[in-house]
Amino acid sequence: ERKTIAQLYRAAEQKEGPVKVCGWVRTLRASKSLGFIELNDGSCFKNLQVVFEDGKVEGFKELSKLNVGSALMVEGTLVLTPDARQPFEVHAAAIEVEGPSTPDYPLQKKRHSVEFLRTIAHLRPRTNLYSAAFRVRSVAAYALHKFFNENGFVYAHTPLITGSDCEGAGEMFRVTTLDMQDPPRSEDGSIDYSQDFFGKETSLTVSGQLNAECMALAFGKVYTFGPTFRAENSNTPRHAAEFWMIEPEIAFADLQDDMDLAEAMLKSVIGYVLEQCPDELAFFDQFVDKGLLERLNKLVNAEFSRCTYTEAVEILEKVKDRFEYPVYWGCDLQTEHERYLTEQVFGQPVFVTDYPKEIKAFYMRLNDDGKTVAATDLLVPGVGEIIGGSQREERLDVLRERMQEMGLKEEDYSWYMDLRRFGSAKHAGFGLGFERLIMYITGIQNIRDVLPFPRTTGSAEF
Ligand code: 4AD
Ligand code: MG
Repeated sequence: ERKTIAQLYRAAEQKEGPVKVCGWVRTLRASKSLGFIELNDGSCFKNLQVVFEDGKVEGFKELSKLNVGSALMVEGTLVLTPDARQPFEVHAAAIEVEGPSTPDYPLQKKRHSVEFLRTIAHLRPRTNLYSAAFRVRSVAAYALHKFFNENGFVYAHTPLITGSDCEGAGEMFRVTTLDMQDPPRSEDGSIDYSQDFFGKETSLTVSGQLNAECMALAFGKVYTFGPTFRAENSNTPRHAAEFWMIEPEIAFADLQDDMDLAEAMLKSVIGYVLEQCPDELAFFDQFVDKGLLERLNKLVNAEFSRCTYTEAVEILEKVKDRFEYPVYWGCDLQTEHERYLTEQVFGQPVFVTDYPKEIKAFYMRLNDDGKTVAATDLLVPGVGEIIGGSQREERLDVLRERMQEMGLKEEDYSWYMDLRRFGSAKHAGFGLGFERLIMYITGIQNIRDVLPFPRTTGSAEF
């Protein structure tokens, strides 16, 4: 029976006997009659040492000339090696070359820069760094589903093609079947979308929130987990044009409940990854971000800080000289501000709440002061904002007024406003940027290195 290398490393499996494993050659060295292969199959961080000997396997000569990167199927005997660096090795009885490689295989045994590895996104999952990053990504995704399902949430699927701009930031990728070189025009010269596939102007979604609200006001507690798209032309280490977002939405809940949920979710997910990926995290701690493990372990037990936007601006104004961007009440916080707050002032994750309504989206609940909205951003050291959320405006008249202020057409959102007509309830939710979470958990500083095939400005290869 075939085993993965991860299975072999599980203590209970570490017993001598016949085994069969498949994987790719990481390194190979051979003398006249004895050879050693470090085999990796991606199931875990560790390689399997395969020993092959002339006379004991067929084709020793050819095997000893194999190039790095070759795909092999190995049958042999697992032998415990308590005195060696690795706890066991496999003495091969038969090695079948599934697919050989060539000497120009780009991943030779040496340290490659992440910049170079980004140019070979199709091969980089075979390196330790990306292998670990994408395994953590997979485990974290599972942990999120696990958390929500264990807490009574319904997983809601929301559309990727949409006719509304949830965030109102105008960062939508258009979806159209019209010939945009020569589109049909209405009498006033504007593009006539009635002839488009959906009969109206549509885009890829920037957030599933508005649909999630509909589902929350039927199921009470829901979450989405899917791709979102933003055509923000910002070439930064934290922005991608296509990223994954987790959006829980809870009914009969306010902003405090929303933050409590975010905090519980993060602690649960990070706790699970700490438990399931000790080798990966130890690797990141050693090679990517010293102090990572200490920070993550501290986080699962600490209580996150909370402060209002107004308090945050007061703190920042005292040290405004150290920033590139100006700080004043009403400004949108920049990454440098966010990182200063979470890294220098609080030294841990902090929820900033109650932002000026002018810099936030139309759906956020207006506070009693008439100037701020019940919004929250969670800022974490090393990354800045990883969560954006709010209590939603559940009062029809206030919502209508806000939409008018912002120039949104009521007829475009009649279904959304129905939620406030039929059994409106206070409700809240947030969006967690999945890549930002993975950056936080791994210490990886660039979003291009936590997405297997990143879509950022100017890159849609692979
Ligand atoms: O703060 P944002 O824009 O909030 C919303 O979209 C709300 N509708 C969410 C909600 O309340 N249901 O985005 C939420 C999070 C951000 O905090 C950030 O982590 C991530 O999504 N994000 C991005 N991640 C990568 N690349 C981008 N271009 C991102 N834009 C936002
Ligand atoms: Mg935001």
